[in-house]
Amino acid sequence: MAAINYSEKIPNNVNLGEDRALQRALEQWQPQFINWWDDIGPADSANSEVYLRTAISVDPQGWAHFSHVKMRDYRWGIFLHPGDSERRIHFGDHKGEKVWNEVPGEYRANLRRIIVTQGDTEPASVEQQRHLGLTAPSLYDLRNLYQINVEEGRHLWAMVYLLHKHFGRDGREEAEALLVRRSGDENNPRILGAFNEATPDWLSFFMFTYFTDRDGKFQLCALAESAFEPLARTTRFMLTEEAHHMFVGESGIARIIQRTAQRMNELKTDDVGRLRAAGVIDLPTIQRYINFHYSVTIDLFGADESSNAATFYNTGLKGRYEEAKRADDHMLQGQTYKVLEARDGQLVEKDVPMRNALNEVLRDDYIKDSVAGVERWNRVLEKAGISFRLRVPHKAFHRQIGALSGVKLSPDGQLLSDAQWNANADAWLPSPQDRAFVASLMGPVVEPGKFANWIAPPAMGVNRQSADFDYVRFN
Ligand SMILES: [Fe+2]
Ligand SMILES: [Fe+2]
Repeated sequence: MAAINYSEKIPNNVNLGEDRALQRALEQWQPQFINWWDDIGPADSANSEVYLRTAISVDPQGWAHFSHVKMRDYRWGIFLHPGDSERRIHFGDHKGEKVWNEVPGEYRANLRRIIVTQGDTEPASVEQQRHLGLTAPSLYDLRNLYQINVEEGRHLWAMVYLLHKHFGRDGREEAEALLVRRSGDENNPRILGAFNEATPDWLSFFMFTYFTDRDGKFQLCALAESAFEPLARTTRFMLTEEAHHMFVGESGIARIIQRTAQRMNELKTDDVGRLRAAGVIDLPTIQRYINFHYSVTIDLFGADESSNAATFYNTGLKGRYEEAKRADDHMLQGQTYKVLEARDGQLVEKDVPMRNALNEVLRDDYIKDSVAGVERWNRVLEKAGISFRLRVPHKAFHRQIGALSGVKLSPDGQLLSDAQWNANADAWLPSPQDRAFVASLMGPVVEPGKFANWIAPPAMGVNRQSADFDYVRFN
């Protein structure tokens, strides 16, 4: 078998061709990655040619090109955002010092943990989404799913590059383990909870890409501030791709709402049974999916009070969202932040040291950003003349992590007894009947330009292609 020329095979701006040790590590890892893709990547997709965007440079004007390719032949590039050789650490105890291009020995374990935790989410989402291609509502949507899948694969490459380049033998072992854990596997699950949940249908998929990929955005933004320059530069470029993932989620849900609103107006009804009989997803079901995905995702930010979060900030490994734009001293000593806890049957705010509350700070930034998109969904309803409004639940609703885990709360923030919770949970979270109904709508639509009954067509095609473009060719 001819050796692969990795510097050609892997588009990159990291001088891959000149780093023998890195090449050797990748030569070992790359076939394992392809095995993983064949084994647990998008089901039944091996022969399909997909109209994909491939990152080819970091030039903002022309960083990608589009063409029909088989996904396993996708060129999983390695790109770092252009660095600034003068960049200084701008927060924490090392503020003002030069950024690091090598891993400082004393922070090695924490940095590796941060990179592995981020890296683990990338293949996990591909695994979670692997059956969705069998029931896509259109070729346009199928292509977007596959686009996201290959880019999550590239994000895995981005983290593996850091592990191989900067962490030697234990980095290589961690890189291998990233291909061995499996989403939802009892014995060897993915690291974070939300990445072990199933993504069984397209409503879940759009919710996942809206809410959970947005968690990715906030984590990547916090890592893009890192004093470890290769991590900052890598994550900065990943954000370029992440924007599209969130767009798929936000526009996907908007199109579902648009279609439902249209049928509500045609039938002059908001009766759930009649709307379901008409083959569209009723708004209360969409609300329950929001409640679920939102609560599972905000858990990803971790415990409200966290000494790890403080350490990561103090040592310069992980900043805050838009650290540079904040007007404070970027040291945060002696400052406090309000977090919620349940005391004597009441939710109360308490002040905790700011550095220990940085998970909560990032969660609150995330919440603001998520709410804005839900308001844009409400505008679709408003425009259709429908009074129903969607909203995110209270941040203490249905939490599994931190001080609020175990608190029983309604979506609007009322503390409940176990009995009250049990009596209402099906009204607030997707019930088995909801999930079965949504599943019953799923079925592939593969004719160019056609869409499933439950979703409106997009306003515009990918890369300005026409409405009946063949985004995926089945061979
Ligand atoms: Fe990603
Ligand atoms: Fe993503």
